[in-house]
Amino acid sequence: MSSHAISPGAEPKRRDLLGLIAIAGTAIGAGAIAWPLIDSMNPSADVIAAGAPIDIDLSKIAVGQQIVVLWRGAPMLIVNRTPAALKTLQEPALIKLLSDPGSTVHQQPPYAENWHRSIRPEYAVLVGICTHLGCLPAYMPAPDPSTPAPNWPGGYFCPCHGSKYDLAGRVYSGVPAPYNLPVPPYRFVDEKILRIGENPTGETFELTSVVQM
Ligand code: FES
Repeated sequence: MSSHAISPGAEPKRRDLLGLIAIAGTAIGAGAIAWPLIDSMNPSADVIAAGAPIDIDLSKIAVGQQIVVLWRGAPMLIVNRTPAALKTLQEPALIKLLSDPGSTVHQQPPYAENWHRSIRPEYAVLVGICTHLGCLPAYMPAPDPSTPAPNWPGGYFCPCHGSKYDLAGRVYSGVPAPYNLPVPPYRFVDEKILRIGENPTGETFELTSVVQM
């Protein structure tokens, strides 16, 4: 089976993030995706399923690498972006291709409403569920002959209906997906540890508050 989470062409009654998470979780549980899921630093699966925060050891993510962890049943993508990728995110040639380059639609916490959609520019933290119908976008960080578009600058490609996102999860214009990939609540415990499920001090963002609910 491919990485499709649901049948191409199917239409949802409404675009509901919780519904998309359930679909993605089913695909993950069935082994329908090729992502290398890693265990978070917290060992208890039932605790994670209950929605407890999870910690990620950033020292295990090489520059340019993505890891995927599950939080509340949804795949969380954490990418250690290269300096070249960060430069690309700011280039006008890319920005003009995007639907919401300034993250004006509420799909992220206030502390990720910036050009890199994150707290620290090098680390992307995204919900890895296509905002069209819930497929699982593929990580394609660099140009290569199999990339989905001419002059592909690196990003995410959804194989179900061809939606494209950049390496900040910003969706391209003219594709089926309507929104940028959501950003979950998270914070840095220290230089090395990233915690998904908790906001920085003074912030109150909830993933359930995003537009795609
Ligand atoms: S689910 Fe349709 S493009 Fe991603």
